[in-house]
Amino acid sequence: MFPPDRLSVLPATLLLLLNAAISEAQTRKSLSIDWVIPEQAPNPPYFTIPTATQLAVSVALCSGTTDTPIPRFFVTNSSSDASPGSGGGDNVFEIVLNQGHGNWTGTFPSGGVLGVENAGQLPFEIGLSDGIPIHEVVSTLPLLGDTTATQALLFSPPFSPQTQQDPTYPNYTLAEANPSTPAASSNPTNYSLIVSPTSNSLTSMQQTACMLFKQNSTGIVANESLWLRDSSGWRTEWLMTGLTPKTNYTAYVVQSSYKVAGPIYFTTKSSTFSCPLVSRLPFCPSIAYAMPLPAPPSPQTMYDSSNLPEAIVAPLLSSLTNFTTTLTTFACGRDFYSPLVSCADCQRAYRTWLCAISLPRCADPETASSSAALLASQAPNARNKAFPTGNEYTQLMPCLETCTATDRACPNFLGFRCPLPRFNAAQSYGVGYIDSPVEGVQGEGSTGAWSDKYGNVWCNSGQ
Ligand SMILES: *[C@@H]1O[C@H](CO)[C@@H](O)[C@H](O)[C@H]1NC(C)=O
Ligand SMILES: *[C@@H]1O[C@H](CO)[C@@H](O)[C@H](O)[C@H]1NC(C)=O
Ligand SMILES: *[C@@H]1O[C@H](CO)[C@@H](O)[C@H](O)[C@H]1NC(C)=O
Ligand SMILES: *[C@@H]1O[C@H](CO)[C@@H](O)[C@H](O)[C@H]1NC(C)=O
Ligand SMILES: *[C@@H]1O[C@H](CO)[C@@H](O)[C@H](O)[C@H]1NC(C)=O
Ligand SMILES: *[C@@H]1O[C@H](CO)[C@@H](O)[C@H](O)[C@H]1NC(C)=O
Ligand SMILES: *[C@@H]1O[C@H](CO)[C@@H](O)[C@H](O)[C@H]1NC(C)=O
Ligand SMILES: *[C@@H]1O[C@H](CO)[C@@H](O)[C@H](O)[C@H]1NC(C)=O
Repeated sequence: MFPPDRLSVLPATLLLLLNAAISEAQTRKSLSIDWVIPEQAPNPPYFTIPTATQLAVSVALCSGTTDTPIPRFFVTNSSSDASPGSGGGDNVFEIVLNQGHGNWTGTFPSGGVLGVENAGQLPFEIGLSDGIPIHEVVSTLPLLGDTTATQALLFSPPFSPQTQQDPTYPNYTLAEANPSTPAASSNPTNYSLIVSPTSNSLTSMQQTACMLFKQNSTGIVANESLWLRDSSGWRTEWLMTGLTPKTNYTAYVVQSSYKVAGPIYFTTKSSTFSCPLVSRLPFCPSIAYAMPLPAPPSPQTMYDSSNLPEAIVAPLLSSLTNFTTTLTTFACGRDFYSPLVSCADCQRAYRTWLCAISLPRCADPETASSSAALLASQAPNARNKAFPTGNEYTQLMPCLETCTATDRACPNFLGFRCPLPRFNAAQSYGVGYIDSPVEGVQGEGSTGAWSDKYGNVWCNSGQ
């Protein structure tokens, strides 16, 4: 039977669970707007649809692999056709399924009927909505922060995007070096995380929430919280523990119980990897990765702004404060150094660059993608002496584009310069992963990104 808690995400007024116990075999089941009914096809296999100006009918299969024979769903918005099916007819439309999902949106001036063929015992859900389909594939993917040998930091797709309110002259006040953490979104979108070893082949199953929820999720969600990572919005952030070293995992995020984002893939580091995870830094809000630090003070299992050593935080904030002071010697908002970018853009780009440069990202030579920009480092880090001395580690070098973005966004008088790809840039940056450099080097400009959904990360973007 359907877990009732999965319905609790619908607004309370819509929380009407169809009592599916219609016993008379010859009775047609009725669907209602904003209900989802978990079903096996009744006999006769027809559902009546209420009258409405516009409805989105959606279907999700809750069992089987994507190549098993699947039932077919037909909908009609004609009052005269009581048994829509593959026989066709006026105003009979097939809801074509793709990886277990299907939808049809149309008008129902005098109601309609949904018919199912070849359902057998296969369970499915039908959703009826007067807005967007209840079942759908979310186009934005979840996001991997980073992994250790046994942990992973994962993020949901964003919600509640933030519009950037840039300051204006004469009160051109830029963001503080260490901004206060904004209050968490009061009405967050509900996201659930499903992680499974890739060897379990979740991707061959119907890619629907009701199917994925039946799988045993691996690992333990040690913490779940909301984080405003960037202007794209809030995300749910999960710290997963209890994973197995050097293992490929597949992850999905289910939004509002019925919508599926993913899959994405990631690999845990080898068991000798000792860098702990760091995230939730208000001054570097997009940072979520492993750094060459000692194990965090027990009982914490990762670092955030409450326990990151002051010796690392203070110089970063000081640099950012000094940079902002120098920047605002320019009459920001009154005078313009570019038609495209402002002092606020410059400060944002500098922050991203400074975070990537000051907070080294560890990599695991054993599991890193073969073309990643890796550098064997001996702590203390050449760039940030505040990182404790200790073991050698492998660093994932910053992406050159974090530097060139700052160069482009900032006024010339600041004298911010980046090394050139054809000279020495590759000694200190990952070159050519995002943009193609003029003379092909390192990443060969091939990826167009600093990471991908397969868990490859080629350079540290400061994000
Ligand atoms: C969020 O969705 C999950 C899965 O559908 C459900 O178990 C949980 O109760 C929901 N949480 C809230 C706050 O609605
Ligand atoms: C049924 O839906 C189709 C497609 O949206 C539309 O063209 C047709 O007018 C509808 N029929 C009725 C009776 O509303
Ligand atoms: C609805 O189905 C169509 C294919 O018929 C698909 O392209 C579209 O993405 C689906 N919409 C949603 C919101 O899932
Ligand atoms: C200037 O802007 C800042 C931040 O937006 C605000 O806190 C401050 O009160 C403003 N000062 C004046 C004089 O308007
Ligand atoms: C989940 O785990 C239980 C116990 O290990 C096992 O019996 C069951 O088959 C598993 N379910 C799936 C879908 O893998
Ligand atoms: C989870 O993370 C939040 C935000 O960092 C923190 O306040 C809370 O103490 C953490 N909870 C646990 C159990 O670690
Ligand atoms: C993990 O996936 C990568 C690439 O997809 C593959 O090369 C590697 O062999 C896999 N590792 C394991 C342990 O399955
Ligand atoms: C920032 O400026 C102050 C005062 O000029 C100086 O003492 C400090 O060293 C500067 N910080 C950095 C990181 O350069």
